[in-house]
Amino acid sequence: MTPPPQSVRIVEVGPRDGLQNEKEIVSVETKVAFINLLSETGMKTIEAGAFVSPKWVPQMADTDKVYAAISKKTGVSYPVLVPNDRGMESAVAAGVKEIAVFAAASETFSRKNINCSIAESLERFKPVMAAAKKHGIKVRGYVSCVLGCPYEGEIAPAAVVKVAKALHDMGCYEISLGDTIGTGTPEKTRVLLQAVKKEIPLAALAVHFHDTYGHALANIRVALEEGIAVVDSSVSGLGGCPYAKGASGNVATEAVLHMLDGMGIEAGVDAKKLAAAGKFISEALGRRS
Ligand code: HMG
Ligand code: MG
Repeated sequence: MTPPPQSVRIVEVGPRDGLQNEKEIVSVETKVAFINLLSETGMKTIEAGAFVSPKWVPQMADTDKVYAAISKKTGVSYPVLVPNDRGMESAVAAGVKEIAVFAAASETFSRKNINCSIAESLERFKPVMAAAKKHGIKVRGYVSCVLGCPYEGEIAPAAVVKVAKALHDMGCYEISLGDTIGTGTPEKTRVLLQAVKKEIPLAALAVHFHDTYGHALANIRVALEEGIAVVDSSVSGLGGCPYAKGASGNVATEAVLHMLDGMGIEAGVDAKKLAAAGKFISEALGRRS
């Protein structure tokens, strides 16, 4: 174990991971108002959308409009997902300052989610990385299915390490390890993180838990004990992946904040303002917050 961090950066993924799976299309106005409320909470990273194929994920088709309309608060980053060159062109045209590329540790999930093998996806990211460098855009990297795959079941830590290292080596400043379907347990999380830490500096690691089986907070606690200081979460626990049936929402940002507070770890997020953002989007979606 490493001493837990004194402060944690929350990466709010609600406007992207939270909304990408909604049945009804959420309006640009609602997304903009939602992101603007999140910007007031003190968070430093708010994922604003995805430049992916609108045929694959219709919910993200208006990312250019959303990105143009949000109030960009100084000191806050608004990354967007980019799967390929075509998405990168849109990101550059929109003037984004940070993107996230996304790969998987499972071959079958890679094909279902981005229609190519893991190796092909890493090849696709090379020109994206080059364009990012040219335009001064920061790149985060995701690895999905790190603790289980909806199609292949168990995933070996070595498979995760390989993809995470490839993304880090190609220049991603941070690697977010995604438990896409929430099958990770604290024990498996520890084994995985200890394997990844051998190859990637701790300061470049983040965790991204979906809460399908209610293990997300326990897994995050393990990640903190392993020294990881960046946690992805989604206000009100919105979320899911359209290509991972049954995957529930991301761990709720409110719950993460509450746990961090109890552990004396600073996150710099105002709980009341966060609750207001959660209430706003839950009402807009017709849910209880
Ligand atoms: P494809 O069909 O193989 O793409 O999709 P293609 O290159 O053959 O192009 C087909 C058509 O799509 C063409 O248009 C392209 O222009 C267009 P047409 O000529 O037919 O009119 N196209 C695009 N349009 C807009 N933006 C683009 C783009 N690329 C091609 N970027 C592709 C391949 C990767 C595009 C597709 O599979 C895709 O968009 N997948 C994204 C799926 C997705 O967004 N999944 C959810 C996010 S990942 C996630 O949730 C996990 C995460 O949260 C971590 C975790 O929990 O584990 C991050
Ligand atoms: Mg996710």
